Amino acid sequence: MPLSEEFLDKLKDANEISSVMSTYVSLKRAGRDNVCLCPFHSEKTASCHVYSDTQSFYCFGCGAGGDVINFIRLIEHLDYLESVKFLAQRAGIPMPDDSYDRSGEVKQRLLEINREAARFYRDILLSGAGREGRDYLRNRGLTENTIRKYGLGYAPDDWGKLKAHLLSKGFREQELVDAALLVRSQKGNTYDKFRHRVMFPIIDRRGNIIAFGGRTLEPDAPAKYLNSDETAVFHKRSSLFSLNFAKNTKEKFLILCEGYMDVISLNQAGFDNAVATLGTAITPEQARLMRQYCEEVVISYDSDGAGQKATMKAINLLSEAGIEAKVLQMTGAKDPDEYIQKYGADGFRMLLQQSGGAISFELKKFTAGLDMETPEGRASYLKKAVALLAEVDNRIDRMVYISDTARICSMTPGEIEKAVEERRRYKSYSMKQQERRELINPVRKRSGGENLGRSPEDKAQRGIIAFLFHSPDMLKKIEERLTDEDFPDENYRNMYNAVAARIKNGISLDISSIGDEFSAEQVGRIMGIISEHNLLPYQKERLNEYITVLEKRRDKYGGKKPEEMSESDLLERMEKLRREKSGRK
Ligand code: CTP
Ligand code: MN
Repeated sequence: MPLSEEFLDKLKDANEISSVMSTYVSLKRAGRDNVCLCPFHSEKTASCHVYSDTQSFYCFGCGAGGDVINFIRLIEHLDYLESVKFLAQRAGIPMPDDSYDRSGEVKQRLLEINREAARFYRDILLSGAGREGRDYLRNRGLTENTIRKYGLGYAPDDWGKLKAHLLSKGFREQELVDAALLVRSQKGNTYDKFRHRVMFPIIDRRGNIIAFGGRTLEPDAPAKYLNSDETAVFHKRSSLFSLNFAKNTKEKFLILCEGYMDVISLNQAGFDNAVATLGTAITPEQARLMRQYCEEVVISYDSDGAGQKATMKAINLLSEAGIEAKVLQMTGAKDPDEYIQKYGADGFRMLLQQSGGAISFELKKFTAGLDMETPEGRASYLKKAVALLAEVDNRIDRMVYISDTARICSMTPGEIEKAVEERRRYKSYSMKQQERRELINPVRKRSGGENLGRSPEDKAQRGIIAFLFHSPDMLKKIEERLTDEDFPDENYRNMYNAVAARIKNGISLDISSIGDEFSAEQVGRIMGIISEHNLLPYQKERLNEYITVLEKRRDKYGGKKPEEMSESDLLERMEKLRREKSGRK
């Protein structure tokens, strides 16, 4: 049963798009509208526009767009109905009774299961049976308070205790498998996934327990840490451990660590702004998530080779997301947890204060493997350093790094400065060339590649779809000359069919209500099509041109794509074209 237009209108009235979006991104005024850094792709300049008159958003960089419902779908990873519910709840509007939503219920159930499992693990940790886990955590320096704050627990050395407990609470075996708490063997039996481990609940920023990490208590277990598999509520790529605490920090920066224990130790020492990825390298999603809460991140990875390599990757990803990355460097301990145990909170605070920008980190890295005592070593260092320094736009920063570099390779700052400025001049020349090219083809720039090299047929298909949204009564005119088969691109053909069917059945074409039929990405694409055409007048002549393009194409190929035609079709076609050509002469 589709939601009524009346309900959707009410919902949107109560959820003004910029006020909803501003809880996720920071909006800046630009004329009548707002702009922000797009939360759906990494960028440094704001290309996501929020239009108050149409209550919609569109990112010219990545093509994400739609109304407030689609925004929630994308940012919260919810489906259409869940997003509607989410917004209804936000505004305190009751949902109409007949909208029945299975997937939302399933997720709700998984979250209940996780909550009950966390309670189970915690109760055991605090009971006599959890002695081993409690001793372990205490040995690692965690206080009772910290253990409670993080809801830590203990999974007993047993194959079925959790399963028995959750079944007794009325959950079904399959649901527990779906929650990734039980594993199904090849024979079909199920058993507890986490055994003989201390347990770390992973909590999202809304306070839901979405997964677990478990650290083994066995000296030589194959996996020191084990994480929940992906479930309907757990997406590792876009989750960060302890963000539920860090998002409320008063600090202006976040500390990015590798491990659960690093984050927990830091918290206990008073650094509530630490987060960790979940056993994987940082992803663009996680970088953007952080960008929603801060503009600066101090990378505080392990001091070993792997940690330093991961640091380079993190610098790049964070910078791409518009975050200023700094690097904390540590000697005398392998990770922040160990450092705090050894040197205390004050020691770590000093490291934080000393943490340098990404540039110093990279400049230092460049010396790796080079013998700086030899002219060859210094020359090869200098080449890399100059290329990097030329990228530093702030003049004062640039001078500071130049003098660092000069020291490293025993030259005068003046000599290096000359080389750097030379390179910058060359760079700005090639950038101007690029700008010129973009001026010649302005559409390219405006839509950030979306429109790149669009063929006339592409433009025609998009144009017709835009026309249907703008003036549905044009459908008759279009149908007089075209059928859906004249749309060469399957995606556009499907869009056209869906939109035409809605028009015929008198169903709303409002961007809010099409979400029940289209995926969030498709809604974004449609939004893109509509916004690119909003700059153009909706005149019959233009529609005519679009239709003509598709008609011509049909006549050329006899309604078939060349690759679909049989050999005799093709021969006949070629013959016809030849006749036409000679006839024209
Ligand atoms: N990790 C993982 N699987 C492993 C090892 C590590 O998922 N087999 C993840 C965990 O999230 C862990 C992080 O990587 O927190 C860092 O791993 P590592 O540096 O090896 O562990 P520590 O955090 O130092 O763990 P501990 O102090 O408990 O030994
Ligand atoms: Mn450690």
